[in-house]
Amino acid sequence: MPRPGWTEQHPADWWTASREVLGRVAAESGGDVAGIGLTGQMHGSVFLNEGREVIRPALLWNDQRTASQCEVITERVGADRLIEITGNPALTGFQAPKVLWLRDVEPVQYRHLRHVLLPKDFVRMKLTGELASDVSDASGTLLLDVRRRDWSAQILAALDIPADWMPQVLESAEVSGRLLPAIAGELGLPADLPVAAGAGDNAAAAIGTGIVAPGRISSSIGSSGVLFAHAEQLAIDRSGRLHAFCHAVPQRYHLMAVTLAAGASLRWWRNILGGAISYDELGTLAAGAPPGADGLFFLPYLSGERTPHLDPNARGAFVGLRAHHTRADLTRAVMEGVVFSLRDGLDIMRGLGVDVQLARATGGGARSPFWRQLQADVFNLPIQRTIADEGPAYGAALLAGVAAGVFDDVQEAAAKVRLVEGLEEPNPETARIYESVYGTFRQLYPALHAERVAH
Ligand code: XUL
Repeated sequence: MPRPGWTEQHPADWWTASREVLGRVAAESGGDVAGIGLTGQMHGSVFLNEGREVIRPALLWNDQRTASQCEVITERVGADRLIEITGNPALTGFQAPKVLWLRDVEPVQYRHLRHVLLPKDFVRMKLTGELASDVSDASGTLLLDVRRRDWSAQILAALDIPADWMPQVLESAEVSGRLLPAIAGELGLPADLPVAAGAGDNAAAAIGTGIVAPGRISSSIGSSGVLFAHAEQLAIDRSGRLHAFCHAVPQRYHLMAVTLAAGASLRWWRNILGGAISYDELGTLAAGAPPGADGLFFLPYLSGERTPHLDPNARGAFVGLRAHHTRADLTRAVMEGVVFSLRDGLDIMRGLGVDVQLARATGGGARSPFWRQLQADVFNLPIQRTIADEGPAYGAALLAGVAAGVFDDVQEAAAKVRLVEGLEEPNPETARIYESVYGTFRQLYPALHAERVAH
């Protein structure tokens, strides 16, 4: 984080880590591998020159520096047209405003720009030599026509971004290329392995958790928090608070609500507590406080917020602190605040008529029984846990299976998803308490926002 709100990473880190892990997989499987699938954090921008070398560190999904470029995009394309074509408003983390930021702020680097890639697609280029992306990840650039599932010539032209800077877009389970012989030799993998187009982390996680049909949502707590609903047809939230993206299931869509600092809020809190306490202990500590944390609230907007506020300048807060509050109350308030923020997304989905009967928990947060029960109670939904905490990687592997011909299609692959035994049902009494506590939570951001604007 070179400055507050700026997040960057060297793409070489991803390639180094990918090589290491692929080498280990090759060794452990004795080279018995049918294909490779790719997934990764969405929205990042990898800037490459003519020789396909990285020009500067990538700007990441949660980078917030592009507010003024978002305004320019909205003005040039028109707010309604932008949502109509891409399914989304201009949001600071998305890829297109980052390209404009490079043009505005780093003209020297910009002069060398010839290719723009998403994070996982950089790894693909290293593995296969191909410049390609998939429909789900490309949906997070703000440059995709989500109906046509290909780049929007209109938007590229309006933003003066040459179409040949963008990679080819494929459906997630299509073969995007084959493992280069030199890399295969180095890693101990069969040469010519098919590499699936893959998917952005959330769409891949949906394959890995079986969210491939209506009625189910996944709730992921990793650094960010994501509610993800499958949609048979494109459903656009005209207010732009939910993302409408292409799904990794061919010709299907999904809706997504994003809390920027979910697990990241708990990590922050753990560090404040000195960093020695484990996440399991934090869950136990929180369980010792009453629902509603004895009148204490936490707003998890440590990195600004997307759903539902679309406000890169939103700030986190503890509200209602009193002298009798304990570490347990504060810890519970942090975890509740994250889940309330996810609930904001759920209510918008329900308002759009999305059918939600069941949630599946994924991400690091799914490992915590306390956090799972909290989600069941706050969402007032039964919640299941899948075997794959690392849902995105599991989903990428299933997509590789389809690309390699192991499965006939994505539906068949997703039917192999294994669930952990048991189901957390909401506790009716706690769910009732949370209904009222959440009502108060909803009033806090508008009140604090008005305060901030006034000053
Ligand atoms: C989704 C999003 C995050 C990142 C990082 O829109 O920004 O989920 O993909 O995980």
